[in-house]
Amino acid sequence: MKISIRNTEKEDIEGILSVEHDSFHPNIAENADTLLERIEVFPNGFLVMEINGEIAGYISSELWDYSENIDTEKFELGHSITETHRYDGKELYISSIAVLKMYRGKGYGDALLSELISNICNKYGISSIILMVSVNWIAAKRIYEKNGFHEIQVINGFFDDDERSDSIVMRKQI
Ligand SMILES: CC(C)(COP(=O)(O)OP(=O)(O)OC[C@H]1O[C@@H](n2cnc3c(N)ncnc32)[C@H](O)[C@@H]1OP(=O)(O)O)[C@@H](O)C(=O)NCCC(=O)NCCS
Repeated sequence: MKISIRNTEKEDIEGILSVEHDSFHPNIAENADTLLERIEVFPNGFLVMEINGEIAGYISSELWDYSENIDTEKFELGHSITETHRYDGKELYISSIAVLKMYRGKGYGDALLSELISNICNKYGISSIILMVSVNWIAAKRIYEKNGFHEIQVINGFFDDDERSDSIVMRKQI
């Protein structure tokens, strides 16, 4: 099996969309335009995992200005990265991570997260990392806790899925 993690190119979009639709409720999945904009604006912050030539997973991110107070609008699904990304921001925001169902539970999600963190943190002088996770995404929450993220806020009913799930904002200081 040939496995690699590399920077994303716009040509990867079909594979990324397959991962997206395999991973998220239709109301929560991002569309092609939002994902393409992320690749364009912050290419170093968008990685894909390829297994035997197929896109098996991805992780995307932005750079934000650090703020002690949590502005929930910045986490809105479908928001444009052009409105939130700051080229000199010192907080890394992980906007999404997903792995095709058939490849889950093998450490690939953890590998994507670790690779992004090691690529970005030194290069951009990052002092903290922030992200949002649904209370229902047990595997994601497990990976984040394992990597030293702590819950800082719960937002009731944030997600537009069938259960109107609560979200958890997590942060890790570097
Ligand atoms: C989150 C996701 C990317 C993780 O990818 P993955 O390759 O399966 O992750 P890993 O194999 O590296 O690790 C998963 C961890 O969760 C644990 N886990 C998975 N399902 C679990 C469950 N139902 N209960 C408890 N732990 C669970 C695994 O045991 C593993 O932890 P461990 O290494 O301590 O054993 C993948 O599950 C996914 O795409 N989910 C749907 C999209 C999603 O929720 N994205 C998160 C956005 S914030």
